[in-house]
Amino acid sequence: MATAVENSSYQVQDLIAEDIDAYLLQHQHKSLLRFITCGSVDDGKSTLIGRLLYDSKMIFEDQLAALESDSKRVGTQGQNIDFALLVDGLAAEREQGITIDVAYRFFATEKRKFIVADTPGHEQYTRNMVTGASTADLAVILVDARKGLLTQTRRHSYLAHLIGIRNIVLAVNKMDLIDYDQSRYDAIVEDYRSFAASIGIGAFTPMPISGFIGDNITSPSDNTRWYTGPTLIQHLENVELDVTAARAMPFRMPVQWVNRPNLDFRGFSGLISAGTIRPGDPVRILPSGKTSTVRRIVTQGGDLEFAVAGQSVTLTLADEVDCSRGDVISIAENPPEVADQFEATIVWMADEAMLPGRPYWLKLATQTVTATIQAPKYQVNVNTMEHLAAKTLDLNAIGVANLQTERPVIFEAYGDNRTLGGFILIDKITNATVAAGMLHFSLRRAQNVHWQALDVTRDKHAELKNQKPAVLWFTGLSGAGKSTIANLVEKKLVRMNRHTFLLDGDNVRHGLNRDLGFTDADRIENIRRVGEVAKLMTDAGLIVITAFISPFRAERQMVREMMKSGEFIEVHIDTPLAEAEARDVKGLYKKARAGALANFTGIDSPYEAPEAPEIRIDTTSLTPEQAADLIVEELLK
Ligand code: ADX
Repeated sequence: MATAVENSSYQVQDLIAEDIDAYLLQHQHKSLLRFITCGSVDDGKSTLIGRLLYDSKMIFEDQLAALESDSKRVGTQGQNIDFALLVDGLAAEREQGITIDVAYRFFATEKRKFIVADTPGHEQYTRNMVTGASTADLAVILVDARKGLLTQTRRHSYLAHLIGIRNIVLAVNKMDLIDYDQSRYDAIVEDYRSFAASIGIGAFTPMPISGFIGDNITSPSDNTRWYTGPTLIQHLENVELDVTAARAMPFRMPVQWVNRPNLDFRGFSGLISAGTIRPGDPVRILPSGKTSTVRRIVTQGGDLEFAVAGQSVTLTLADEVDCSRGDVISIAENPPEVADQFEATIVWMADEAMLPGRPYWLKLATQTVTATIQAPKYQVNVNTMEHLAAKTLDLNAIGVANLQTERPVIFEAYGDNRTLGGFILIDKITNATVAAGMLHFSLRRAQNVHWQALDVTRDKHAELKNQKPAVLWFTGLSGAGKSTIANLVEKKLVRMNRHTFLLDGDNVRHGLNRDLGFTDADRIENIRRVGEVAKLMTDAGLIVITAFISPFRAERQMVREMMKSGEFIEVHIDTPLAEAEARDVKGLYKKARAGALANFTGIDSPYEAPEAPEIRIDTTSLTPEQAADLIVEELLK
C-alpha cells in the first residue's frame, strides 16, 4: 500500500479506512470534499476518475510508466492514456485482497483534498451506491453525450438526492464524440432539468466534459468556447462543503463516550454534527432534557474558544448532570426531538428480505435501540419513481414504512440533519447491516399515547392468586408433541391450585390470528401477538403456557425481552424431524411432501432450534407424562 510522501510529485492513493487518517494528517490544512461518481463503465467513469488522479499528479511515476505501456498494449487510440486502465487495474489489485464494494480514492489539489467513492452502477448495486453516497457532499452524475439520459441516470440522481446530497454535477461526458455540439449538450441539460425538478432536485451544475481528452476537467477547453461555467476541478474546489453549511445550524453533539480520567474531570466527547459552541453557551442534554452551561472545550491541543461542526471535542459542563453515551448535547433553546415512532425511507441491503415485525438493532448516531418495522406503505421503483404496493422489501428495494423503537431516540428529520436523521438496521443474530434509512418525521401517536398507571398492580394480581406469574414457552416442530405435553402440564398445575391459561397455535389461529398464514412475516406477527397476550396474562398473575412452533430465534428472543426477567421459560420440545414426520398425526407432512402445502416448517420453511432453552424435552426418551412432570418440577423449583 502506497503512503503519501510529502513533496512527492506523483502519488497514488487507493486506500481503506485506516489509511484515510494517515493521509489526511498530511493535508490537514486543506478542507476535504467527499464526492461520488455515478454512471456505468460505458459512461466513462473510470476514465474520468483516472483523469482526475492523473491531472492532480497523484500517481507514482512507475505506475504511470506501466499505464503508458499498458495503453500501448491494448491499442488505445491516439496519444491519450487510457485512464480507465489505471482505475480498473487498481480494482483488480484490490480484489486479490478483501473485497470491498465501494472503492475510495484520494487526490488533492493546491486548494482542497478529495475522497471519491467509486461505486458500480448496475441496478443490483443500489446498496453500494447508498454506502458510498452516505457521507458525500457532492455527486457527479455522468451522462454519455451520445446517449443522453438513461434509466440509470435517473436512478442515480434519485438515490443521490434521497441520500441527501445537495450538490449535483451533471457531467455530460464524451463531448469529443459529438464534436462538442452545443445544441446536443443544451438538449441533454434541459431534459435533465425537467427530470430533476420532478424528483425535488432544485439546482444542479451542468458541464460539458471529456474525461478522455481532458476537456473542462482542470482547465477550460478551447473546444467548448460557448461554455462559460467552471471546470470540474474548479467546481470541486469551490463548492460549499456540508460541514461548512452545518455550522450555521443549531448546535448538536452526539455523545460518544464520557471521559472521566479522575474524580476532578468529567468531560463528554463526541463529533460535533451541527452548529458552533463556545464556553458559556447554555446546553440541553437529551433525552433527559436537563440543562447546563459549557465550561470548557477540551482538545488534545489545548482548550478552544469555540468549536464547530466537524470537530471532535470534549465538553465539560458547569453542573453535575447525568449524560452518557448515546445522549445528545444540544443548544438549550433549540433541541432536537425525542420520539419512538417514525415514518422513514428504508433501503434494504440484505439478501434476506425485510421482515415486518422482526426486531432489529437500529443505530442512529451514537444510539443503539431495538426497532421493528411495519409492512411498507409502498415501495419505490427506482427506475420510474413509481410507488408500488409491497408487503416486504427485497435486496436493493427502497420503500417507505413506519417503524417503532423500543425506547425513545433523539432525532431530526434526515433533510435537516443527516447525522441525527440517518440510521442503519442490524440483524440481531448475524450482526450484519441489513438496511440504511432516513427518518422523515415522528408519528404524533408516540407523544400522545401514554401508559395508563393502574392502581391494581400486577403484583396485587399475583398476590391474590398466591403464585409467581410465568410463561412456559413451548417451541418445536409441528407434531413434536407441544400441545399434548402442554395440556398435561396445565392439568397438573390446576390440580395444584395454580391459575393457568393455555394458548395453543391451532386454537389462536381460529380467532385472534385467523388473518395470518404461514409466510415468515405472518409467523412473526403470530408470535408478536401471542407474546403480547401472554404478557397481559402474566400481568393478570397467570401462569401462561404457549404451544406454537415459533420457528425463529429472533422472535422468541423478542418475547423473552418483553417479559420480566426470569418469567420467560423456553421449553424446547425436541423431536427430530424424521420422528415428527413418521408420527404425522394431522397428515400435514404427507401433504407438504406431496407439494400440496407450502411453507411447511421443516420441509420448505426453516426451524431454528433454541441454543440455550431453560428446559429441553427429548420426546424420544420421555413419555408425555414424564415430560410434563419434569416441566412442572422445573417451574416450581
Ligand atoms: S407458527 O410457526 O406461527 O408458530 P403455529 O404454531 O401458530 O405456527 O401453527 C402451527 C400449526 O398450524 C401446525 O401445528 C399445523 O397444525 C398448522 N399448519 C398449517 N399449515 C402449516 C405450515 N405451513 N407450517 C406449519 N404448520 C402449519
